[in-house]
Amino acid sequence: STPSLLILPGDGIGPEVMIEVRKVIDWFGANRGMNFDVSEDLVGGAAYDAHGTPLHDDTMAKAQEVDAVLLGAVGGPKYDDLDFSVKPERGLLRLRKEMDLFANLRPAQCFDALADFSSLKKDVVAGLDIMIVRELTSGVYFGEPRGIFEEGNERVGINTQRYTESEIDRAARAAFELARKRGNKVCSMEKANVMESGILWREVVQKVHDEDYPDVELSHMYADNGAMQLVRAPKQFDVILTDNLFGDILSDCAAMLTGSLGMLPSASLGAPMANGRPKALYEPVHGSAPDITGQGKANPIACVLSFAMALRYSFDQGDEATRLEQAVEKVLADGVRTADLLGEDGVSPVSTSEMGDAIVTALTAS
Ligand code: NAI
Ligand code: MG
Repeated sequence: STPSLLILPGDGIGPEVMIEVRKVIDWFGANRGMNFDVSEDLVGGAAYDAHGTPLHDDTMAKAQEVDAVLLGAVGGPKYDDLDFSVKPERGLLRLRKEMDLFANLRPAQCFDALADFSSLKKDVVAGLDIMIVRELTSGVYFGEPRGIFEEGNERVGINTQRYTESEIDRAARAAFELARKRGNKVCSMEKANVMESGILWREVVQKVHDEDYPDVELSHMYADNGAMQLVRAPKQFDVILTDNLFGDILSDCAAMLTGSLGMLPSASLGAPMANGRPKALYEPVHGSAPDITGQGKANPIACVLSFAMALRYSFDQGDEATRLEQAVEKVLADGVRTADLLGEDGVSPVSTSEMGDAIVTALTAS
């Protein structure tokens, strides 16, 4: 049956970048015979304006049914004073929670043409293509007990790092499945030297590997060493699997290996549905960028690359995902730049829609 995609443009530059993704989706329909059952709905401030809630129940139900959700961004100054319960972010959080998206995928991919933007030396990052899989629904951000308590004559702040075997098991499976669609290598990071949850993490990951993914190359690394290796020699990695806390830090660190926020896609995956595909939400890492909204300055590439991830991980179209990524690479190599990708070399920037058109032109030439 025709794969289904729910598009939630959201607020600020969300709708602006999504228009460019629609051009790309239309191109795949017209030129590659790939048709999607695309529907569009409201999320965030846009949904609040229409319905008084940042995510309507009907939209939530729809998100549970489709093969993939593609979201732009939510939030903005207009909504800053709203009650916490109806803030735009609550719409996104509700999606993540009710879809039970436990694996957050953050690729760090360095396009050669942008290697100068990296915080690192060009030869360390040129050609870099790694994926961090961060467990997203458990660990120290959620563990009980938590709170600030009186203890004797002072206060103590407590959070609890807690992982069950099944939570580790499902995150590990997500990482191994991904690795099979990429470089077939997983490096799992924890602190088994000082944390019991780390010991259990390492044990369960190894067991899942030995039982069901012996074909994937697995290594284990302490997370502090992992941080060092990410900056020293990031190309040694393919998929990095880690917990919620370490993943938060390591994925931000990895993001800066590659440059602009306008380039970074992400995916959050849940359990497999009846058709075998994981529940999935794809979104750029950036927010609604109110400072540039409505000016045609937004870089649509992060959202376009999020759709490429959907092609690869939800629609089993890895070759077409690569085609799209190569079109982006070609456009960048040709020197086409939105304002966020400009150094001081005097090139004038293209608009959001010119960037989208350039990507479509590169697709046609591919
Ligand atoms: P932001 O990511 O929206 O913007 C940070 C800076 O990066 C801004 O200068 C912006 O112009 C620039 N930028 C971001 N995306 C860009 C793109 N595609 N092309 C060119 N430049 C880009 O983060 P900020 O400013 O902290 O938050 C703004 C609003 O977005 C807030 O309401 C925040 O709550 C919301 N937000 C939403 C997220 C989401 O929907 N997942 C994530 C982060 C923030
Ligand atoms: Mg973070």
